Amino acid sequence: MVSILSIVNAEQPKVIVALDFSNKSIALNFVEQINPALCRVKVGKELFTAAGPDFVRSLVKLGFDVFLDLKYHDIPNTVAGACCAAADLGVWMVNVHTLGGRRMLEAANNALAQRIGTRPLLIGVTVLTSMNRQDLNELGVLGEPQETVLRLAQISVDSGLDGVVCSAHEARQLRSLHGDQLRLVCPGVRPAGSVKDDQRRTMTPTEAILAGANDLVIGRPITRADNPIMVLKNIKSEIADIFST
Ligand code: C5P
Repeated sequence: MVSILSIVNAEQPKVIVALDFSNKSIALNFVEQINPALCRVKVGKELFTAAGPDFVRSLVKLGFDVFLDLKYHDIPNTVAGACCAAADLGVWMVNVHTLGGRRMLEAANNALAQRIGTRPLLIGVTVLTSMNRQDLNELGVLGEPQETVLRLAQISVDSGLDGVVCSAHEARQLRSLHGDQLRLVCPGVRPAGSVKDDQRRTMTPTEAILAGANDLVIGRPITRADNPIMVLKNIKSEIADIFST
């Protein structure tokens, strides 16, 4: 426990609130209830498609660290350009599908490195947690999903990515293999006592952090709460407690 905490101690884990809303006004309504001192925010494909880059710019202007979760997967040149366009929006973190391959990952990393201005963190998606062994085998990806996750995480490190999105259940092994070389961004986190929704294997914030998570992606337990600020404050103090012991 102590060694994991010393690895992530450089920056205490923070919550990234998944803004999984279908349109800009509902999203803005929610964002007005929270603040950048308590959390970061994630904009995914649904909200980005509905609300567009101007909405992302407005979140940045409000002071939020924005994780643009568009999971780019295309030829290297296109993904490199998309990552630079995301960086131009001022986002804090952007992600790509590692299944796009080494050349695509390197192109994204190099393009961000060569760009003038702040470089967003570049994160790889390994195996979608919605995919099981059978789904992967049908695509010709053989073996256990876990083996594929480890292989794709290694390619991410080799290609200069800052981290990967992973289930907190994969975090412990990735942390022990890669130490602090890899930022671990973990969804599927549920504060103790909250409903799991459609997430199957969840962990509490404390469990996820002790497993090695750097970032806790949490959506519905916060976005659907009567008092989102209260939920965020409780998680923040739970995290502070881990680091004060
Ligand atoms: O509402 P909830 O906390 O389940 O939201 C989790 C967020 O993390 C969603 O935006 C979901 O798309 C995302 N995510 C996930 N599992 C992954 C990758 C991303 O739940 N493996």
